[in-house]
Amino acid sequence: MIRFQKNFSLKSYNTFGIDACAKYFFEFTELNDLTEFLSLDTSPEDEPVLIMGGGSNLLFLNDFDGMIFHVNIPGIKLIDESRNQVWIEAGAGVNWDELVEYSVFYRWGGMENLSLIPGKVGAAPVQNIGAYGVEAKDLIETVNGFDLKTMSEYSISAHDCRFAYRDSIFKHELKNRFLVTSVVFRLEKFPEYKLDYGDLKNETEKLGAVNVRNIRRAVVGIRESKLPDPKVNGNAGSFFKNPVVDVALAEKLKSEFGTIPVYPSADGKVKLAAGWLIDRCGWKGFRDGDAGVHEKQALVLVNYGNATGRQIFDLSEKIKQSVLNKFGVELEREVNVI
Ligand code: EPU
Repeated sequence: MIRFQKNFSLKSYNTFGIDACAKYFFEFTELNDLTEFLSLDTSPEDEPVLIMGGGSNLLFLNDFDGMIFHVNIPGIKLIDESRNQVWIEAGAGVNWDELVEYSVFYRWGGMENLSLIPGKVGAAPVQNIGAYGVEAKDLIETVNGFDLKTMSEYSISAHDCRFAYRDSIFKHELKNRFLVTSVVFRLEKFPEYKLDYGDLKNETEKLGAVNVRNIRRAVVGIRESKLPDPKVNGNAGSFFKNPVVDVALAEKLKSEFGTIPVYPSADGKVKLAAGWLIDRCGWKGFRDGDAGVHEKQALVLVNYGNATGRQIFDLSEKIKQSVLNKFGVELEREVNVI
């Protein structure tokens, strides 16, 4: 399917449900459709570009005065298999949780902790999505796509994706340049489960045997009890990243605020829970018009109906300021502000 439209409403294309408009919008389900479109004389040139997947990590402050590419390539296939592992390739347009369900159906391990994350497969490497002790980088073998600058199709190995906490090359050098068309994941036939995070072990054991199906059920249960459903109230999951700070600051905060959760992070630093910091500033359940802070997880900002992107953004600025004042910690947005 190909869709090319001018002045296209993005309301149903971003999980915040912000009513912004794109000057040009091109949606495609096969790479050939994109290359054909780009070779047409009528295809817009020299416009700002935005590459969009499921729109679950975007906040539009204004209409987008440029060209949006919406990659909607379907399909999941088994491409290789060894005694212990399988390799599956999924199109960028596949709904992330459908892919997790598929892997769990075959009892292949790896993705079960990433159940119910909103969005599409194409965003998984961009954001290096993560939850309950697992990140997409742990499973990705290669990322396939099309480079709008060199007009060529190529694959990038996981090593070259420069994955870090909610970060990758696709947010830097390749931002709005490399369209992810599919991702190859490596899954385990005899998985070792990762159950160290929070209540996951307990919640899984309550369901009976510890296996990928029950881990998925437990993760879905935990997420549903804490996180708002974007189909009911617009949101983009965690609005901020968990801040990574020096040990000295973490120690100081620990002595002042005894119960503050801290997690080890790469390069000897310490990760703090942004949700905890925001909660302690009294924001949980706050609402101003239709812009608010979720009542069960302070890290999630919510559009209760007709909030504008600007209203959500302004609320996020106030939250950042109060966390900075109280804890001396600067929060960084996880959500991409457009
Ligand atoms: N906490 C509070 N109050 C709150 C929220 C959290 O005190 O309002 C405390 C919790 O009690 C816990 C700690 O903060 O001690 C961490 O909370 P939680 O386990 O809910 O996880 P998180 O750090 O807030 C991260 C990810 C989530 C992911 C969960 C589970 C980021 C930015 N967020 O949240 O990812 O689902 O861990 O692994 O890393 C997302 O990225 O959109 C997302 C939802």
